[in-house]
Amino acid sequence: MNKHLLTRRQFAARCAALGLSLPLLGATRAARASAQARAAGAAARPPARTVRLPDGTVVTALGQGCWHLGQDRHPAAVEEEALRTGIALGMNLLDTSGNYGRGRSEELLSHVLAGERERIFLVSKVEGDEVAGDGIARACAASLARLGTGYLDLYLLHWPVASALFPGVVAAFEQLRAAGRIRAWGVSNFDVRQMEDLFRVADGHRCATNQISYSLAHRDIEADVLPWCRQHDVPVMAYSPLGGDKHLVVGDRTLAQIGAAHGCTAAAVALAWVMRGGNVIAIPESGSPAHVRENAAALATQLTPQDLKTLDAAYPGPSGPG
Ligand SMILES: NC(=O)c1ccc[n+]([C@@H]2O[C@H](COP(=O)([O-])OP(=O)(O)OC[C@H]3O[C@@H](n4cnc5c(N)ncnc54)[C@H](OP(=O)(O)O)[C@@H]3O)[C@@H](O)[C@H]2O)c1
Repeated sequence: MNKHLLTRRQFAARCAALGLSLPLLGATRAARASAQARAAGAAARPPARTVRLPDGTVVTALGQGCWHLGQDRHPAAVEEEALRTGIALGMNLLDTSGNYGRGRSEELLSHVLAGERERIFLVSKVEGDEVAGDGIARACAASLARLGTGYLDLYLLHWPVASALFPGVVAAFEQLRAAGRIRAWGVSNFDVRQMEDLFRVADGHRCATNQISYSLAHRDIEADVLPWCRQHDVPVMAYSPLGGDKHLVVGDRTLAQIGAAHGCTAAAVALAWVMRGGNVIAIPESGSPAHVRENAAALATQLTPQDLKTLDAAYPGPSGPG
């Protein structure tokens, strides 16, 4: 087995052979290192903080949510600095939606994307009440205009619609993909029954992710959605990974104590926990550069079996304390 790192040219050739997407792989050092390890067949290394999408694209396991950005929670310049700080630290997946702040989140992102588009993995969403007729194509065009870009890396259906509408939704997403407006599509807030209905539809298996709430404070999906997605090779994108505004876990003493042993904060521990399984992407939101720096530390934080046991006891999952 070749244990040496590949040259850039060898790496490109291996990636092409494996059908991996090079522009994105160039996005973060972590992503590149992980793909190199995979291509070289190096099995015995610690798990890297990347997630492989069904089409082979490798993305960072730690992105940045943008729900409240551009809406005066923090000064816009500070929020932009927060996003740029995260991008520089490897959090180059940005999650927004056409309906966040009625487009203001996407508009703020357009400033951050300028000159940086190829480094970013950009995710946006369409609403369930926009899927009729050519509504998905129109919503996508409006998002692209606000973002000031020609394509989305990933376009999600924000909330489930009736399963009878899935064939039309998938066909619309596939048309956008064929036209180069989006590179992949996925869903959000789908339960297992809805995922199964989706996978029965033609091209439904092309779903790149299910974005859903997951944190120490909300572990319900461990009983159903998470194992289903793992079995079907669908990565989960965990929203509200710090617990969301109402159940933030960043002030928790147990997490802070674990963080002290790793030289990071409670927030980084919470995010490292969400990403621990290798098929979950966490998208914490912060409009504060200092908080983003804390969160980025999760990329280098490897929780021990004892840490996981302690966290299971403090925040039992659906099957009780581990
Ligand atoms: N698909 C869906 O239905 C859906 C639903 C909800 C959310 N989302 C996505 O998921 C993203 C994140 O979810 P979320 O905003 O609900 O929850 P979250 O990321 O769990 O928490 C965000 C809150 O945590 C604070 N925070 C972040 N880092 C911190 C740190 N290191 N220390 C202390 N506080 C910190 C933020 O305040 P500061 O800004 O002051 O740091 C903000 O108040 C959203 O932006 C959105 O993109 C998707």
